Formats: sequence, C-alpha cells, structure tokens
Amino acid sequence: MSVTPPLICPSILASDFARLGEEVKAVTAAGADFIHIDVMDGHFVPNITIGPDVVKALRPHTDLPFDVHLMISPVDPFLEAFRAAGADLMSVHPEAGPHLNRTLRQIRHLGAKAGVVLNPATPVDVLDWVMDDLDLILVMSVNPGFGGQSFIDTQLRKIETIRKRLDAISHPAILQVDGGVTAANAKACVDAGATALVAGTAVFRGGAAQYQANIAALKGVAPEGR
Ligand code: DX5
Ligand code: ZN
Repeated sequence: MSVTPPLICPSILASDFARLGEEVKAVTAAGADFIHIDVMDGHFVPNITIGPDVVKALRPHTDLPFDVHLMISPVDPFLEAFRAAGADLMSVHPEAGPHLNRTLRQIRHLGAKAGVVLNPATPVDVLDWVMDDLDLILVMSVNPGFGGQSFIDTQLRKIETIRKRLDAISHPAILQVDGGVTAANAKACVDAGATALVAGTAVFRGGAAQYQANIAALKGVAPEGR
C-alpha cells in the first residue's frame, strides 16, 4: 500500500497580485510542489487573469514546475508563448478547441507535459482516445472562472472512475483535482485516487506565516487502500 503524499499545487489566483513574485517564493519555501497558474480570457470563462508576460516575470522566482491551467479559447495559438514563458505543464479543456489530440501533441512537441481538464459536467469519455497523449488529468471540482467556490462532491466519483481506469492500464498520469479543495476534503480526494491537489484559498489564507501549515495540512492526508 502506497502512502505517497499528494502533490500540492498552490493556485496563485488567491495570492496578492501586487506581490506575485514574493508570493511564489513564499509558497515554494513553504513546501509547494507545483505552482498552479490559472489563465482566464473572459471568453471561455467569465474572468480575466494572467498572460504569458506575467508567467515569464515569475519564472526567476522559483525552480518549481509551472503548472499552467489554460481556460482560454482558442488555446492553440497561445501554447508556444506560454511554453516560452516557462510553462512546464499545460492543461487544456476539451471544449476550448476542435482538435484535442492535436492540441495535446502540440504541447508535448513544445517540450511540456500535457494535461486534460474535465469540467464538472464533462464526461470522462472525452479521455477515451487521448490516453497516450496526456501526462495529467485534472478534475474540476468547481465550475472554472473563480477561486473561493465550494467543492462539488459528485466529482469524487469522477476521480474514482478515472483512478480505476489509470490503474487498469498502469498509466502514470498525475490525477489532479482543482476547486474548493480544503484540509477538510483533501483526504476524500486522495482516497478517491487524486495524486495532486490544487488549492488557492486553502493555501493563501492567513498570510505568508501560515503557508507552511496550510500546505502541511493538505499534504498530511495519507491515501487509503492504495
Ligand atoms: C478555478 C481555478 C482554480 C481556483 C482554485 O477556475 O482553476 O485553480 O483558483 O481556487 P480555490 O482553491 O480557492 O477554489
Ligand atoms: Zn486551476
């Protein structure tokens, strides 16, 4: 039975945007595994956030992988710019373009890891023919667009379903969950099979003095039955 702790991926959407570089450094020092960067375009989702120039400006502030969650449509024209800015992993929504396979292959061709993001209402079948082309599957436990929303419990079953599928073929993909993740529901996510937790509010609450404890609380949930 494995007791590997989940990877913790602080979403900087919940950080102080006036001090982004310091915030990235602070969560790095506090034990984060990835820096989760939410990119929104005001079109695919009803909010606007960060572009490639900001990602580039943040790159010198940490050695941790940049996990870039692209909530933009179209997405293909921007992959190269985000990769050049320092994205190590780029995750896309299948609804963001007509050719998911092409998009995933393009991400890998650029030298990054490729992720597929499933909205709460997106069925897992969308993964059927792209399993060989992905490194990460992200299950959204809120509707994308905003931080600070409540976790949608039905998504635990989706995580379980995907976990079984990955295990059945010994697929090494990271199984990530994003939205409303807190110390109170982190264990349920990990027990369902998640190996990476994105958390904005739950990491950045209380200011920098709390980041280490906040991350430790999320990381301290040992998986059961695996
Ligand atoms: C939502 C984003 C999430 C969000 C998480 O569209 O993808 O990454 O920032 O924030 P919390 O943890 O506050 O729900
Ligand atoms: Zn996200």
